[in-house]
Amino acid sequence: MAKNKKGEDKDMGKVAIYPGSFDPITYGHIDIVERGLEIFDKVILAIAENEEKRSLFSVEERLRMVKSFFKDTPNVIVDSFKGLLVDYVGKTNAKVILRGLRATSDFEYEFHMASMNRSLNTHLDTLFMMTSKDYFFVSSRTIKEVARLGGAVEGLVPDLVVRRLKEKFKLPVPRKRQIGWDD
Ligand code: PNS
Repeated sequence: MAKNKKGEDKDMGKVAIYPGSFDPITYGHIDIVERGLEIFDKVILAIAENEEKRSLFSVEERLRMVKSFFKDTPNVIVDSFKGLLVDYVGKTNAKVILRGLRATSDFEYEFHMASMNRSLNTHLDTLFMMTSKDYFFVSSRTIKEVARLGGAVEGLVPDLVVRRLKEKFKLPVPRKRQIGWDD
């Protein structure tokens, strides 16, 4: 196989990094991954380990849920990273950061992040995709709030995530539907 100057395989195709907290993953995120796969040969879903941000699920729990969801999708690689995103991207053969935009309110935060990443690595672009109209109101934060208060989040996050949320918030999980972390 042909190699580039760094000794990497040239024929590995187009790769995008889709970074985020994914605490927890929602169908809004999944929609971005699926549409990303229409453009890229591979999407690396990279879960940020941020010790300063309090998360509901540990990074291991988030990894297990996401890996479980994409277990039959070989062109989605699930990983986690600590530190700067640009440093993590540098260890991969990705040239593009993929992010979803739900509303104009997301724009300022995303614009600052993309600009900072671009200033840290001028070869790196961020590609924004509009979240599908079915999920534009879905965020991990609101999912957690609704689930904590006993509201229904079915259809907005995978079933496995619904169950893990119920367990976290000590809400009843139908016995028949109890499954392991990796199911
Ligand atoms: O899902 P989120 O919380 O909006 O994702 C934000 C994330 C994880 C993509 C962002 O905070 C990030 O890239 N963190 C890694 C640290 C970093 O590189 N910071 C500088 C970018 S401004």
